[in-house]
Amino acid sequence: MIREHTDFLVIGSGVAGLRAAIELSSAGRVTVITKDVATESSTEYAQGGIAVALSDEDEVGIHYEDTLRAGDGLCREEAVKALVEEGPERILELISWGAEFDTEAGKKQKLAFGLEAAHSRKRILHAGGDSTGKELERVLINKVKTISSIKRLPFTLAQDLIVEDGVCYGAIVVSERRPVAVFARATVLATGGLGQIYSITTNPQVATGDGYAAAYRAGAALEDMEFVQFHPTSLYLPSAPHFLLTEALRGEGGKLLNVNLKPFMAGYHPDMELAPRDVVSRAIFTEMGRTGADHVYLDLRDMGEDFVKRRFPRVFSTCLKYGFDITRQPIPVCPAAHYMMGGVKTDVTGHTNVKGLFAAGEAACTGVHGANRLASNSLLEGLVYGKRTGQSAADDALRSEDVLKKQKTFFPPPAHPHSIPAHDEIRGDLRRLMWQNAGILRNEDSLIDAEKKLGRWRYITESSFLSRREIELKNMIDISALIIRAARLRKNSVGAHFRSDYPQKTGDWQRHITFVKE
Ligand code: FUM
Repeated sequence: MIREHTDFLVIGSGVAGLRAAIELSSAGRVTVITKDVATESSTEYAQGGIAVALSDEDEVGIHYEDTLRAGDGLCREEAVKALVEEGPERILELISWGAEFDTEAGKKQKLAFGLEAAHSRKRILHAGGDSTGKELERVLINKVKTISSIKRLPFTLAQDLIVEDGVCYGAIVVSERRPVAVFARATVLATGGLGQIYSITTNPQVATGDGYAAAYRAGAALEDMEFVQFHPTSLYLPSAPHFLLTEALRGEGGKLLNVNLKPFMAGYHPDMELAPRDVVSRAIFTEMGRTGADHVYLDLRDMGEDFVKRRFPRVFSTCLKYGFDITRQPIPVCPAAHYMMGGVKTDVTGHTNVKGLFAAGEAACTGVHGANRLASNSLLEGLVYGKRTGQSAADDALRSEDVLKKQKTFFPPPAHPHSIPAHDEIRGDLRRLMWQNAGILRNEDSLIDAEKKLGRWRYITESSFLSRREIELKNMIDISALIIRAARLRKNSVGAHFRSDYPQKTGDWQRHITFVKE
C-alpha cells in the first residue's frame, strides 16, 4: 500500500473541515480530503442561514437560552456557551474574509436578520436570500486557496482510521479505487452527517455516515445516536428530489395546510409554524396519517410574488425547474431526515477518546444541540468548533518521530476485495427500512423488526471492500445498527427521538447513551 505523510489530515470539506484546516495551517502541512468535489457537502446546501446574536435587539444570553430550550434538556451547557459567545467573533472574521450577508433594503451597512422556528429574536443571517451555505463555502474555499500549506484531495474517501493501542495515526483513504495510507500527527473528522441512510432526506449523496462508522470501528465513543433531526419541509414532488424548503419560509409567514387545504398547526403547538423543528415535523407526520396523505402543503401565496423571488431565489428557481411555481400554488411538502445531533463524542475542544483523533461539526457530538438542534445553529457550530478543534489538534498533535516510526512498521489490514451482489438494491431497502421503522416515530416492535432485517446484511460489515459504494453501504449498515440500538435503549421521548410506545419524557431521560466498540 502506498504511504503518504502529512502533519494534519482533515477529512471533509464543509464549514467545520475548512475552518479547522485554516486554523491548522500555521502549525504544519494540512491535507484536506473530500469524497467528491470540495463543495459537495451539506454546508453547500444550507439555505436558511446562520444564527448569531449580533443584532441590536439580541443578546448572547438569549441565544443561549433558546438553544437550551430547543435541545429539550440534553444540551451540554459548556458547549452551548462556547457556541453563542464565540459566534459573533467568527462571523465578523468571516465577513473580514469576504463573506457577503444580506443587508436591509437600502441600508448597505445594516445586516438583515431573519426569524426561524424556536428563536425568540430575529438572529438568522442569510446570504443570496437562501444560499447561505454556498456563500460560506465560497469564502472558506477562497481563503484555503490562499494558504500554501493546505493541500486538497477531492474524490478521496476515508475508508478506515489507522489506530493502534488507542492512538490514531491517520487514515486509509481510497481514491480511484487505490487505497493509500495517509499518516498524520492529528486527524480531524469533519465528515458531516448520515441523512442518506433514510429514504427521504435533504442531505446530499455524500452524507452516508462514513466518519461515524470509521470512528466507531477505531474505538472512538459515539454518543446520542438516537437523536436524528427531521426537517419539517422538503419538497414532495414525484419527479423531484427532496429539496430542502428552508425554515425561513415559515419565519417569513409561510403557512402549513393539510391535504384538504386546512391550517392545522394551531392544534399541535401554541407557536404553530414556528414551534421547535421536532414538534412541527411530528405534527406534519401525524396530520399526514390523519388525512391519509403522503404530504401536506406549505403556502406562500400571501407573501407576494416579488418578495418570494427576491428573498428565496434558490427555492423559487429550483421548484420552477420541476415545473412548480411556488408563488402561485401551495407547495407539497413532507418531513425529511436532515441532521444528526449525535456523533463522535468530543469535549468542547474537539478531542475524542482516541489520542490523535479529533472531530468537529455534524460528525462530532459536543452536546451543543442536545436532543434537538435549534435551526441555523449548525453552520455556526461548524465555524466555532472548526476553529476550536483545529487549534487543539495543532496543540495536542502526536510527535512527528512517533508517526514516522508507525509509518515504517505499519502493516495494512488484509483486503478481501469482492463484490456485494445487488448492493444498490440493498442500499434502497436499508434506506426504506430506516425511514419506516426508525424514523420520526419509533416503537419497540418497529425497532426490533429493523434490527432483525439489518441482521441479514451483517456479513457486509464484516468484509473489506474497495468500491466506494460498497464502503458507503457498509458504513450505512453499521450506523443504522447503532441508531436502532440507541433508540431501543431510550425508552422515553425527548427532542427529536419520539417513541410512540413511550411518548413521555419520563424515567432516566436525562442520561446520554454512549457506545464504544469492544
Ligand atoms: O431550514 C433551513 O434553512 C435549515 C436550517 C438548518 O438546518 O439549520
